[in-house]
Amino acid sequence: MTFKGQSIISIRDLSKPDILLILERAKKIEQMLSDNPKSTLDIAKDKVIASLFFEPSTRTRLSFETAINRLGAKVIGFSGTEGTSVKKGETLKDTALTVAQYADMIVMRHPLEGSARYVSEVTGIPVLNGGDGANQHPTQTLLDLYTIIKNKGAISGLTITMVGDLKYGRTVHSLAYALSLFDNINLVLVSPDELKMPAYLIDEIKEKSGMKITETSEISDAALNSDIIYVTRIQKERFPDPAEYHRLKNAYIIDKGLMSMAKKDTIVMHPLPRVDEISTDMDSMDNAVYFNQAGLGVPVRMALISLLLGYNL
Ligand code: CP
Repeated sequence: MTFKGQSIISIRDLSKPDILLILERAKKIEQMLSDNPKSTLDIAKDKVIASLFFEPSTRTRLSFETAINRLGAKVIGFSGTEGTSVKKGETLKDTALTVAQYADMIVMRHPLEGSARYVSEVTGIPVLNGGDGANQHPTQTLLDLYTIIKNKGAISGLTITMVGDLKYGRTVHSLAYALSLFDNINLVLVSPDELKMPAYLIDEIKEKSGMKITETSEISDAALNSDIIYVTRIQKERFPDPAEYHRLKNAYIIDKGLMSMAKKDTIVMHPLPRVDEISTDMDSMDNAVYFNQAGLGVPVRMALISLLLGYNL
């Protein structure tokens, strides 16, 4: 696609060649900054980008804002609605229309599914979805794919196990779809019955790609023979019934003991934040790539923003 001026709301907005182009550019940016990864490219000095986080975030907001700063653009925005006119009853539409008067692009996170699409439609400026409810988190998927390529050399042909809250976890929804664009992936979905990946998504993926998908509630041999174990937090904030959350919150814990039964080169990914689902004793293991994964959000988001602003590198 022609990136300039587009919004990225869902991973479905990107084809496989689009994704590979973004990841190639992220690699190029990493190479360009290799002498000093914390330096800037300064190509977007005249741009202002709004960062509107209606819901808590550490990595997505800060890595987007770091990416914007390292492209030389300016950031405006808020983290939480305290201190904004949302507290006076302003609608999402009015907030968005106002911000579009100031900014060239909006990065946003909001608890309502469909909110980012709505803002892109009412404002007409590019919107990057940093997470809309339990729906989509496309830029997380891009950095997840980049992490996979960096650690495994390729995406096709891998066995990937997703563990945890596959119902409410938006990162796994986006990632599962993206994996279906690649060849010969074996996807294993490990969750309690109550937190299975939505059937509509599995049906869509199977229909489109024929990707092999196995659902189970056990971290079984399939998981332990995986190339990647992608762990997710049980999403407390999305549970209608707190008692249900407390019953399920410790369904799976990945620790050194479990990893001693896995393949030696199995990597453990997590979009973070972690609660208890990965034991901290894992952190020093070479298999644990989740903090590096969070770091790769910066070059990937720099790559995407620079493409959407129409800059050549
Ligand atoms: N991975 C991710 O979305 O983390 P944050 O919620 O901290 O942004």
